[in-house]
Amino acid sequence: MATLKDRIDGLRKTFEESALEAADAKALEELRTAFLGRKRGHVTLLFEDLKSVPAEEKGGAGQLINEFKEFVQGQLRTIGEKLEPGVRYGAGSIRTKSKFAAAGTVVPGTVVHPDLTLPGRKRYVGMRHPLTLFEEEIERIFLGMGFTIEDGPEIETDYYNFESLNFPPHHPARDKWDTLFIKGDLLLRTHTSPVQVRVMERSKPPIRIICPGRVFRRETPDPTHLPMFMQVEGLVIDEGVTFANLKGTLEYFIKALFGEKIKVRFRPSFFPFTEPSAEVDIECLVCSGKDPSCRVCAGTGWKEILGSGMVDPQVLKNVNIDPEKYSGWAFGLGIDRTAMFAFGIPEMRYFYENDLRFLRQFGAK
Ligand code: FA5
Repeated sequence: MATLKDRIDGLRKTFEESALEAADAKALEELRTAFLGRKRGHVTLLFEDLKSVPAEEKGGAGQLINEFKEFVQGQLRTIGEKLEPGVRYGAGSIRTKSKFAAAGTVVPGTVVHPDLTLPGRKRYVGMRHPLTLFEEEIERIFLGMGFTIEDGPEIETDYYNFESLNFPPHHPARDKWDTLFIKGDLLLRTHTSPVQVRVMERSKPPIRIICPGRVFRRETPDPTHLPMFMQVEGLVIDEGVTFANLKGTLEYFIKALFGEKIKVRFRPSFFPFTEPSAEVDIECLVCSGKDPSCRVCAGTGWKEILGSGMVDPQVLKNVNIDPEKYSGWAFGLGIDRTAMFAFGIPEMRYFYENDLRFLRQFGAK
């Protein structure tokens, strides 16, 4: 190893002396060939000799040679820049100067660029995702009505996702929520409704909350279905709460989002955790009911955006809230699907394709 080190020190000295004398590009190229030339360059020969170094010394020897090679490349580059700005020396042979380069033009204080006529690199200011913007708009409306915002885990237990919400094991209603199970009792939540139970467990009525979040289902993507999407859950529990409150609040919310003229309808439905239950549809804002082959509303002119209902007394009992004293209502709205209408786009999958041409249309904020 000592001899290799001496050899490299000697070569370094020779290199430095020759470098001082290199006064033009030709001399510099000769110096590069003498040291880095592919066949007989000093550095190349050092690597050749490395083959006969005993295995236990190879690592250290290789490192010394590499350091020397980097030193030579760095020096060649620095000297080259001084001789001819914009021309690179070092790793390979001299790169020819771009025919457009303004010879010797280095703008003081800038990084040397080989071709000053190339357009600059545009840096875009980041912006919030359209779904985030939409979620914030929903939050704004509910905060204005005195609701607060809660959060819950995306990985749930069977108890919170199903059982506490009145779905006993093997209940057929579980089939509607085609579930991605993780291990044992754990699953990816299929809706934001488990947060209702978690909030009722930890707080006392009156309760008035919303909870936006991501949910997961085993679904094949299409224009209005995704395997991962956003929901916002709403829950109100107090004395004397009726279905009229549910209807009035949801109508107010939908009109605040879409404007006074939006057509809304409540359709009877079934959820194990609400009784009675209703799904809410809005008019199809993609085809306005005029396209019999519309891929969003299938020609019906309506599209469901949320499920809702009066909280089932059994769910209240599960969290030790007295159903004789308190009543409440809840809803779960699909954020992606509703955003699709609000932004007038016919396809929910656009939200997740990360195509900047799409995302940039929602404005930087
Ligand atoms: C539920 O998930 C219930 N938890 C809603 C609920 C909450 C009812 C509280 C009663 C009380 P549903 O499966 O219908 O219900 O989904 C609610 C909304 O999520 C739908 O109206 C729709 O807007 C959206 N949604 C459902 N499936 C998908 C999907 N695959 N892709 C995108 N959005 C979906």
